[in-house]
Amino acid sequence: MKARVFSGIQPTGSPHIGNYLGALKNWAKIQYDYESIYCIVDLHAITLYQDPKELRQKIQELAGMLLAIGIDPAHSSLVVQSAIPAHVELAWMLTCVTPVGWLERMTQYKAKSAAQETIGDGILQYPVLMAADILLYDAKVVPVGDDQTQHVELTRDIAQRFNSLYGETFVMPETRLPSVGARIMGLDEPEKKMSKSVIGSGHAVSLLDPPDLIRKKVLRATTDSNPAVDFDRLGPGVANLLTIFQAFSEWSDARVRQHFAGMRYGELKKQVADVIVAALEPIQKRYHEIMDEATYVARVLEESARRITPIANATVEKAKRAMGLYTPD
Ligand code: TYM
Repeated sequence: MKARVFSGIQPTGSPHIGNYLGALKNWAKIQYDYESIYCIVDLHAITLYQDPKELRQKIQELAGMLLAIGIDPAHSSLVVQSAIPAHVELAWMLTCVTPVGWLERMTQYKAKSAAQETIGDGILQYPVLMAADILLYDAKVVPVGDDQTQHVELTRDIAQRFNSLYGETFVMPETRLPSVGARIMGLDEPEKKMSKSVIGSGHAVSLLDPPDLIRKKVLRATTDSNPAVDFDRLGPGVANLLTIFQAFSEWSDARVRQHFAGMRYGELKKQVADVIVAALEPIQKRYHEIMDEATYVARVLEESARRITPIANATVEKAKRAMGLYTPD
């Protein structure tokens, strides 16, 4: 039997090249080597307020985008988290074995709670729900960007604690980062991770940006006071542009060095924009075709949920038995 892969993405903001290079590209690549489950995590999205109408729409659009980037419903399951209640059931059981101190130490919790006056308990519980997502399917491999590494580590800690309290129940998952592009930085602020939630026209390249907008954003990207690429003194902005190019092109380090050494920033940016446009054009074309087909996305989501719900329910059952909760015999 093939080992299982699980990963998720929130239906908030608009998916960008950081999501693509850090995670989604890998999802499509490894789906044939594993039994893959990819999840639109709407229950995670509501840890911050979402406009209900917009959220519904974004779930559909994100599903269309995941199909457009190459998630193949004949090989992978593509589901919406809230369609499978077992995620929440297992999350509660895991909550009860998770020390609050572990959750308060999470970088994402600290950042989100610092930015809000009052925060919902969901922000604190967020990584427990994520642990439930992963453990529910005995996932061995979790393809994510670098910012999720801490959450996967916590998932292992929670699984270990559960296993030691109640007996071997969960499989230990492992993070799978891409070799290049695990952390794409904002074009305007290369010290900060490219983020879906940052509103700013020059921050992120959305997967649906038209070519002229992509070129404009890349040409405006922050660099430094050097005139040309110097690999001995790479500023964060130039390093980020080179990473973006390399992740899209899949060139080797040596080829990138040889090609870009001494290149003026204007030309570097032009070539980076070209590689992004060339990669996104076919994805955008497929996206529009998919969204024009009235029931295709809904059908994929429903069939996938039907296929994997029994796996999720079996794990909940196993965890309930392990904990001594009521299960009808
Ligand atoms: P989310 O929706 O923030 O991001 C989806 C994926 O994109 C990656 N990513 C990036 N990679 C490189 N550079 C960036 N600037 C960048 N920004 C985002 C993320 O690492 C992620 O892989 N908590 C998760 C969703 C989740 C999940 C899960 C993931 C819920 N349950 C279970 C894996 C397994 C999140 O908010 O991802």
